[in-house]
Amino acid sequence: MPIQKIEMISFRNHQKKVVTFSPGINLLWGENGSGKTSVLEAVYILSNGKSFKTNRLIETVNREKKEAVVSGVFGGKTTTFYQPTNGQKKIKINNVVKKTKDLIGQNPTVLVSPEEEKITKGPHTERRKYFNRLFSTVSKTYLNNLIKYTNAIKNRNHLLKQNKQPTEIKIWDAPVAKYGALLWLEKKHLQQSFNREVLLVCEKYNNDININISTTTPKKPTENDLLEKLELNIQKDVFLRRTLVGPHTDKYTVSFKDKPLREYGSQGEHKLSFVLLKVAEHGFIKKETNKNPTLLLDDLFAKLDNSRGNAIFDLIRKSGQTIITNTDLVGVEAHGINPNNPNNKTIHLLRNWKN
Ligand SMILES: Nc1ncnc2c1ncn2[C@@H]1O[C@H](COP(=O)(O)OP(=O)(O)OP(=O)(O)O)[C@@H](O)[C@H]1O
Ligand SMILES: [Mg+2]
Repeated sequence: MPIQKIEMISFRNHQKKVVTFSPGINLLWGENGSGKTSVLEAVYILSNGKSFKTNRLIETVNREKKEAVVSGVFGGKTTTFYQPTNGQKKIKINNVVKKTKDLIGQNPTVLVSPEEEKITKGPHTERRKYFNRLFSTVSKTYLNNLIKYTNAIKNRNHLLKQNKQPTEIKIWDAPVAKYGALLWLEKKHLQQSFNREVLLVCEKYNNDININISTTTPKKPTENDLLEKLELNIQKDVFLRRTLVGPHTDKYTVSFKDKPLREYGSQGEHKLSFVLLKVAEHGFIKKETNKNPTLLLDDLFAKLDNSRGNAIFDLIRKSGQTIITNTDLVGVEAHGINPNNPNNKTIHLLRNWKN
């Protein structure tokens, strides 16, 4: 569902600011530090319950204030996020308190920003987090199993850290094996679907390259196999004080022309793979949920060249709603997006305004 309006109070540099969006292309422009990325961050928080800039949401509260409030209207439903400096975040949908998990998947977004480049450049944990987030967006079952699995692992690791006896630690083996196997099974199917999308995108834009994602997820995961592995590994777990088998240790490798990108990729190959993965992410969410995600493009135009540009502009055309940030409109026009087109909306942000 496109976002129609957002209100930010004491959020980052925005004291009190309302922005209305078009369901098409929105060009958010203004000088450095005017708060463009912060608007994207606010939209992202309403979609995902978390920020892409920080793991500490408290940092989003304006430095002179005690609480940030962000409220967004998505097709008649109002989602509000409250973050006090002295407590936990709170989420409400139409004034009813909800959990983060109720938010995820409702109004999906695809974020193309420098922060997301860690998907190809960063360590395995980054790709694991990325796929967990993506699969949770398209499947409530995946999300619920992930929450239960993470909780079981947390409890098991807590006992391991306290040097408890194996008999005590093993209490958590059954839930770890149950939810771990369920996660693995669904992950396999979703990963295949995502990989198909990547293949389609590569064929369309760069027929001479192939990007492939491989994972350490077992071919035929079963609860019993995982249970056996947990038992086999117990001495190692005790020694290292953490659980060493299960989906939380999965590794993902992105290959570019059959070579692991992280180890061998050039800057250009990273950038191209990143953009193509994002195009695939958009198609994947659409295919799995029938929802058209809002595309959030931060700091992009300065860096585009032709091979990446074509894929991105096609994505903008396919996407229902897009919010693009840039310091000026000239750069956007230079890439063929007309700010005067009545379907597009321009939003100008000024630095240091207090309204
Ligand atoms: N918690 C906060 N309280 C007050 N101001 C903040 C807070 N967090 C960030 N800022 C400031 O808000 C301003 C807007 O940041 P933002 O990243 O949104 O700008 P931007 O328009 O995207 O800039 P650029 O074009 O350089 O990317 C910055 O000056 C930043 O220092
Ligand atoms: Mg910015």
